[in-house]
Amino acid sequence: MKKIIFAALAILTSILFAADPIRFIAPKPIKGSIETLKFAQIIDLIGAVGPESLAFDTNGGGPYTGVGDGRILKWVQGHGWSDFAFTASNRTGCVRPFAPEMEHVCGRPLGLRFHPKTGDLYIADAYLGLQVVGPNGGLATQILTEAENEPFKFTNDLDIDEVDDFIYFTDTSTRFQRRQFIASVLTEDDTGRLMKYNLVSQKVQVLLRGLKFANGVALSKDRSYVLVAETISGRILRLWLHGPKAGTSDIFAELPGFPDNIRRNSKGEFWVALHSKKGIISNFLQSNLWFAKALLRSPLSFKQLHALLIGFKAHAIAVKLSEEGQIVEALEDSEGLTMKLISEVEEKNGKLWIGSVLFPFVGHYDLNERESASRRD
Ligand SMILES: *[C@@H]1O[C@H](CO)[C@@H](O)[C@H](O)[C@H]1NC(C)=O
Repeated sequence: MKKIIFAALAILTSILFAADPIRFIAPKPIKGSIETLKFAQIIDLIGAVGPESLAFDTNGGGPYTGVGDGRILKWVQGHGWSDFAFTASNRTGCVRPFAPEMEHVCGRPLGLRFHPKTGDLYIADAYLGLQVVGPNGGLATQILTEAENEPFKFTNDLDIDEVDDFIYFTDTSTRFQRRQFIASVLTEDDTGRLMKYNLVSQKVQVLLRGLKFANGVALSKDRSYVLVAETISGRILRLWLHGPKAGTSDIFAELPGFPDNIRRNSKGEFWVALHSKKGIISNFLQSNLWFAKALLRSPLSFKQLHALLIGFKAHAIAVKLSEEGQIVEALEDSEGLTMKLISEVEEKNGKLWIGSVLFPFVGHYDLNERESASRRD
């Protein structure tokens, strides 16, 4: 009798366990990934959130990062964070760390890159376009707010070709602003663009249009191609710049989630931070667009819609792509214990520096530590 009750209990427990809705809905860990990002160290931002992009200056100083109230901060070991630059001239009302309704006034610096030759910092500000500030910081100068007569709505990321003095950068959408990114995803907006700005002639050219949430940008080491992340489709596209295929584009990589920024390491490989993995709900919404659009008109809040898209459990995943576009490494914090919703991974001197669009800290992780971690099979 006892045995039967015991067996019945065991069966019931396993059924309940299997039916645990979050466990069912939340995206599964990626095959071959290493569960290491939970061991990342964190550096708190004081009174600031959302260090989306990270950059080091030409002397190796930093990281620098743009945060939610429009400031660009600089980190100095032993001294902490200090204000470095701004993209908006009037910061009177820019007092709260997270205030999306103020972003068009205060600016929202996303992609950051230092020009290796001049030491100038180039900034893709989501609302204020392409900007630049000198090595001493202060108020940045606006370079561009439109391309081919179409204003930028959501400038997102950039990379610099220091040899030819070109800047490659993205405008995520001509319809939606950064604070409306959920609407952009749910309607599968395809108005993103990749541009090239010539620093010498000061001319801008649209290279690719019709992109589904144009996001991170990275040049290859030999400058033969430029990559652009298409967040909604989960793809990294490659546009050939030199050689026989110049001017044509192809799919460089298909990813298990929604890619944000792309950063090349010194070997020429690329780290891609994924905002989240794809899961049952996001797949369903993407194949039932009418339902996704209806959700936008439902009383669900921004937070609830976001939770739906990420599968109810914020997590972190970064993948490393070879120069040929193969996923050669995947690092996770699948429970979101330390890192979640990451936006950028920058490799520097054996360490990964990790940004996030939401959290009040920057993460860093020593790559040597992953040798002791085991791979999922
Ligand atoms: C700056 O913005 C505030 C409101 O946010 C406004 O009252 C003030 O006049 C502005 N200052 C200038 C110089 O434009």
